[in-house]
Amino acid sequence: MAFNFQYFSPILIFLLALLIQFTESRLTQETFKSTFGTSSISNADEGTNWAVLVAGSRGYGNYRHQADICHAYQILKKNGLKDENIVVFMYDDIAHNEDNPRKGIIINNPKGGDVYKGVPKDYTGKYLTTSNLLAAILGNKTAIKGGSGKVINSGPNDRIFIYYSDHGSPGVLTMPNDDDLYAKDFINTLKKKHQMGTYKSMVIYVEACEAGSIFEGLLPKEWNIYVTTASNPEESSWATYCPGFDPSPPEEYDTCLGDLYSVAWMEDSDMHNTQSETVEQQYQVVKKRTADAGEHGSHVMEYGNINFSKDHLSLYIGSSTTTDSGHKHHNKGGKGNHNNQASSTPVEQHEADILYLKRKVSRAPEGSIKRKEAQKELDDALSHREHVDCTFEEIGKTLFGEEQGNAMIKTVRSTGQSIVDDWDCFKTLVETYKTHCGALSTYGKKHMRAFANMCNSGVQQAQLAKVASQVCGKQV
Ligand SMILES: *[C@@H]1O[C@H](CO)[C@@H](O)[C@H](O)[C@H]1NC(C)=O
Ligand SMILES: *[C@@H]1O[C@H](CO)[C@@H](O)[C@H](O)[C@H]1NC(C)=O
Repeated sequence: MAFNFQYFSPILIFLLALLIQFTESRLTQETFKSTFGTSSISNADEGTNWAVLVAGSRGYGNYRHQADICHAYQILKKNGLKDENIVVFMYDDIAHNEDNPRKGIIINNPKGGDVYKGVPKDYTGKYLTTSNLLAAILGNKTAIKGGSGKVINSGPNDRIFIYYSDHGSPGVLTMPNDDDLYAKDFINTLKKKHQMGTYKSMVIYVEACEAGSIFEGLLPKEWNIYVTTASNPEESSWATYCPGFDPSPPEEYDTCLGDLYSVAWMEDSDMHNTQSETVEQQYQVVKKRTADAGEHGSHVMEYGNINFSKDHLSLYIGSSTTTDSGHKHHNKGGKGNHNNQASSTPVEQHEADILYLKRKVSRAPEGSIKRKEAQKELDDALSHREHVDCTFEEIGKTLFGEEQGNAMIKTVRSTGQSIVDDWDCFKTLVETYKTHCGALSTYGKKHMRAFANMCNSGVQQAQLAKVASQVCGKQV
C-alpha cells in the first residue's frame, strides 16, 4: 500500500481538532441565539423586520381602531423592532379628544394600560393618505407628501408585517381623508413590491368589514405573502369591549376599546412566546376567538401563500421574551378558550358607531343643549342610514326591474372570484353615484357591492348617471 498511515496521523489529529473546535463554536452561537433570541431580529443573515400599521378612521366613536394600532406598536417595540422600521399611520385625534376621559392616554382593554405612549407619529391628520401609504410600502420617498417621510426601505432578505384596522366595505378599505384604498390598488402595490424583490416574505393582518373582498381572487400565492382577515368577503367584522356589553370598558368610556379579531391576535401575542408560536397557531386561536362569541362574530380567512404560516411569529412581529410554558390553547382537540374572553359579547362595526351616539345622548344632562345636539346627531345618523338603504334599493329597481333589482345589487359572487373584473368601471360608478347622490358615508359604503355588480352586468356610466340623478333628485 502506498498510503503511509503513520506519516499522515499527526495531520489527521490536527484536522480532527480543528473540526471539534469549529463545531463547538457553532454550538455556542446557536445556544446564544436561542437563549437571547437575537436570531430573527438581528440583520446578520435574517434581514430586518419592517412593519406598517394603519388605522383608517377618525373620530372618537372610532376610538377602537387607533387603540388597536397603538397596541400593535407596543408589541412590535417590546419585541425588538426599531422605530426606524415601524411606519405608523393614524389620524391621532383620540388621545387628546375632548370626549376622552383619560387625556393623553389610549387603552385597548378594559384593564389595560396606556398604549399611546411612544407611538411614532409618522403620518397623522391630513397626511394619512392612500397615496402616502402605498408609497411608504414601496419605499418610494419621493412620492411621499408630508409626514415624517419614513418608508419601508427594505431589502431582499427582509420581512414585512402590515396591519390595518378600520371600517371596510366590499372592495374597499376606508381611509380618513376621503381617498379610500381600493383592493386593486393595494394588490397592484404588493405586486410591484414583489417585482422589486425587496422582501423575503410578508404577513398582512386586516381588521375590517368584508375584509376578505380585498384579497379574494386577487392575491397570487407566488408573491410570498400570507394574509389573514377578520371577516370573509360578505360579512361585518366586530368591535369589542363596548359600553354596556360584557366585558365593558371602565364606566367613563362611551366608546368601544377594541375590535374582536384585533385584540384576539394581540392578546395572544402578549401572552405567548413568538419564537415558539407559529403564524398558523395564532391564526387558529384568532379564528376561534373571533367566531366563538355566540351567534355573533365573523369568519377569519386566510389568503396568499399559506406555506408562510409555518413560520414563527417572531419573523414578523419580533421576538418576545415571554416564557410560554403551558401552550394549552394550542393542544389539538383542546377547547381553545382564550383566557375567559371567549364569552365576551362583540358589537358589529356599524352598530358600534350608533352605540357611541346613544351613549352620548344618555350621558348628557336631561334638558341640556348638549343632549339636544347629541340626540340630533343620533337621529341624523339613523335617518341617513334609512335614506341610503332606500336609495340603493331604488337604483337597483330602476336599473334591473322591480323584481330583480334588490337581488341584483346584493348578489355575491362565488368563492375564488374577485367582486368585480373591471376595477376602472367600479371606481367610475362610485364617482358617478357621488356626483348625483352625495358622498358615501362609512355606513353607505356597505353598499359598494352594488357598483361592482352593476359593472359585472354591463351597466354603463351614463345609465347610472341617469338613474342616480332621477332617484336622488326625487329624494333630496
Ligand atoms: C416614486 O414616485 C415618483 C413620484 O410619484 C415616481 O415618479 C417614481 O417613478 C416612483 N419610483 C419608483 C421606483 O416607483
Ligand atoms: C408550499 O410548500 C410545498 C411543500 O414544500 C411546495 O411543494 C409548494 O410549492 C409550496 N407552495 C408555494 C405556493 O410556495
